[in-house]
Amino acid sequence: MSFPIVRHRRLRQTAAIRRMVRETTLTVDDFVAPLFVTDGSGVREEIPSMPGVYHWSLDRMDQELKEIVELGISAVLLFGVPESKDAQGSSAFAENGIVQQATRRIKSLYPDLLVIADTCLCQFTDHGHCGLVHVHDVNGRPHGEVLNDASLELLVRTAVSQAKAGADIIAPSNMMDGFVQAIRAGLDEAGYDHVPIMSYSVKYASAFYGPFREAAHSAPQFGDRKSYQMDPANAREALRESESDVREGADFLMVKPAMAYMDIIRMLKDQFDLPVVAYNVSGEYSMVKAAALQGWIDEEAVVLEMLTGLKRAGADVIITYFAKDAAKWLNQ
Ligand code: PBG
Repeated sequence: MSFPIVRHRRLRQTAAIRRMVRETTLTVDDFVAPLFVTDGSGVREEIPSMPGVYHWSLDRMDQELKEIVELGISAVLLFGVPESKDAQGSSAFAENGIVQQATRRIKSLYPDLLVIADTCLCQFTDHGHCGLVHVHDVNGRPHGEVLNDASLELLVRTAVSQAKAGADIIAPSNMMDGFVQAIRAGLDEAGYDHVPIMSYSVKYASAFYGPFREAAHSAPQFGDRKSYQMDPANAREALRESESDVREGADFLMVKPAMAYMDIIRMLKDQFDLPVVAYNVSGEYSMVKAAALQGWIDEEAVVLEMLTGLKRAGADVIITYFAKDAAKWLNQ
């Protein structure tokens, strides 16, 4: 018995026909550009493990903002790298905190550029954890425990102060239980019921955050984040995290990191009807950059393939340090 050959290659013959049947098209509307802002003045400092990504002081960041806006990118994700840290992370919710100041400045310069504020304490705490820490003795040794409900209060204050400064979207990345509900209630009560929450619903305890922690000076000073961030081996748990976020009032669901978790992106896309955000994190950026700088890969082709893959997997929004580069390549 013989079967006829199925001719798949008919639809691949020319660029025109390939374009006609292409299922996924990347556009600049898909991207969010992360932006690191820092205290001080005259700072434009490249992050060693993330070539092409900088720390900006407020007086220097206009240059970066202008480029972002001119490339047609519609949103930035703001990270603060403060001068002073304490046990509570109080500069995270200070009215004159670096994120609050940067937000006001961005909104006054570019009212249409969306400011997404990362809501977390780890860059602002001296111990580097994402919540309040209670240190007690276990078998004669000091042991730090990250407190859940006590941390929520500080996260709510942070979110409200960010909204007050003009943040368009609040993006809590701290992985405390109940952070969406607490922040939603806090925002509503303060008169910000129109401000959406982009929840880092599914955030894994990942080694891919290494370069970011160097960039944001936010590595935990003891222990790790495994008691609040998820185990990379788990997928069903991602459903439970997302279900509770939906119930608590999240407006977006995020998966982070992106590349090693494309099954999770697809799963959330199929299971929920909220927009799905993929965070293409620092380590994913650094790996591609390093190989490109060695001349081992074609950077443009690899980056566009990677981002197209994330969109194909189900991402409606992609947070990526390649946002500017990708926008340039797509605009060519
Ligand atoms: C803070 C936070 C982290 C990232 C974003 N927000 C680091 C962490 O959890 O240690 C990582 C971003 C990246 O790697 O690009 N909670």
